[in-house]
This record gives sequence, C-alpha cells and structure tokens, in this order.
Amino acid sequence: MDVINVKNLFHSFDGKNYTLKDISLSLKKAESIAIMGPSGSGKSTLLYCLCGMIRASKGEILFLNKDIRTLSSKKLNELYRKNFDFIFQDINLIPVLNVEENIKLKSSLNKKKLDTEKIKEILQLLNLSGKEKSYPTKLSGGQRQKVAIARALLLKPDLIFADEPTGSLDTNSSYSVLEEMRKLKDIGTSTIVVTHDPNVAIQMDRVLFLLDGQLRQIINKPTINEILEIFTNLEKNKGVRLG
Ligand SMILES: Nc1ncnc2c1ncn2[C@@H]1O[C@H](COP(=O)(O)OP(=O)(O)O)[C@@H](O)[C@H]1O
Ligand SMILES: [Mg+2]
Repeated sequence: MDVINVKNLFHSFDGKNYTLKDISLSLKKAESIAIMGPSGSGKSTLLYCLCGMIRASKGEILFLNKDIRTLSSKKLNELYRKNFDFIFQDINLIPVLNVEENIKLKSSLNKKKLDTEKIKEILQLLNLSGKEKSYPTKLSGGQRQKVAIARALLLKPDLIFADEPTGSLDTNSSYSVLEEMRKLKDIGTSTIVVTHDPNVAIQMDRVLFLLDGQLRQIINKPTINEILEIFTNLEKNKGVRLG
C-alpha cells in the first residue's frame, strides 16, 4: 500500500489563480522524494497541502488510504502526533520545553517506552551533547533543525516532511544531518523533502521538479549533473533562479 497517494491536486489561495495545478504522486513505505523548483514555484505550498496544514482546494491526498483533506482537526492532530513528523525552519520546537523534553515529547505522548541510551546516542550523533537542558531560543537555527531530526529519529514516524532541512546548516552539519536522514529509510520512514540543494536531492529515491505549480518532471535517482541540467532548462523557459 502507498503511504501517500496524491491524485489531481489543485490549490488556490485566492479562488482565482492556481498555485498548484494537477499534481499526482505516490510514495511507498521507506521511499523518499525531493521536491525541487525555482523560488515561488509552489514547493512549500505543496508540502503544506500534503501534510494537511493547508487544506488543498481540489483533489485527493490519501495517507494510508485516508483522505487527509477531509479529516477533522482532531484526526489530523492524531496524525501529527503519531504518524507524521516535521523538520521545518520555524515551527519545529516547543519554546517552553528544553532540548531533551522536545525530543521526548511526541514519543512519550504516544506512550512509547523511552530509551535513555538511544536518546544519548542520537544527541551525540547530531553533536547536541551538552545541550539537553538548553531552550530552543538559546540554540542556533542549525541546532534547532537537528533537535527536530533527533525527535524524528526517536519517534520513527511513517512520514517525515522537511522544508529545506539543511538550509541553515554549515557544510559539516549538513553532511551529518543528511547521514541521519538516510537512517530514516532503515527504520521504514518515508520522507518528503523540499530542497534547493542538489546534495540533499540526490539522497532521495526520486526528485520531482515544479514550475509554476505544475509538475514538470519526476526522475529516479538523478545525479547532481542531471539536476543542474534540468534547472538550466527550466531557466531557459522562464528566466528563473534556483531556490
Ligand atoms: N499563504 C499564502 N497566501 C497567498 N499566497 C501564497 C501563500 N503562500 C504562498 N503563496 C504564493 O504561492 C506561490 C508559491 O509559493 P511557495 O509555495 O512558497 O513557493 P516556493 O516554496 O517554491 O518558493 C507564490 O506566488 C506565493 O506568493
Ligand atoms: Mg518555500
């Protein structure tokens, strides 16, 4: 069964112009997909529609055969607690909880037995040792990003949504975050990531290219050169920049 199956998705913010036009895609367990496209092409809107934070105007978004477009907010919250996790720039962490509490919260809400050794290991892996008691406002953007990844590694959700997960990280931290994200596959988690970074995109099973809210191309396991070539072609068509 597909973890997520999207059929003929459209979204309009104003009821007149469509930001997303007729998007269809599907993802199986442990599969991963990157969404790429120029700035303003609708990448973030697509991601927010897929996770239900924006209610898409038309089409179907089936998560394990349930249409998340029509779920009540109670059911959606349940998905957010148990099945989905998010690695976003701004809304990752709860500001009144420290690093350790943030990492544990979702898992403990799901009554998962917390493995202290595992938490330590994850913190070490992500270079967050010593930050357990720090509050999110005391961390850099990159560190906050890593706390969200640590939380996901502990939770093992069905699906992770990431918007530019390495966007605020230096090269070394990006590399370790990518390594960690790869491990999500081994625990059976599927990933949907919005990125302008070809290094992130090539780690995914498929890369989807958006232009003006339309799906232009899906490629399996592209190389960096293939990605750059597609962008050059998109630029020729539109005079647009990668981002
Ligand atoms: N909340 C919103 N209300 C109205 N228009 C929006 C909203 N969010 C995004 N848009 C518009 O939708 C288009 C796609 O934006 P976005 O999905 O953020 O693109 P990307 O992530 O590819 O840069 C842009 O023209 C943007 O201005
Ligand atoms: Mg965006």
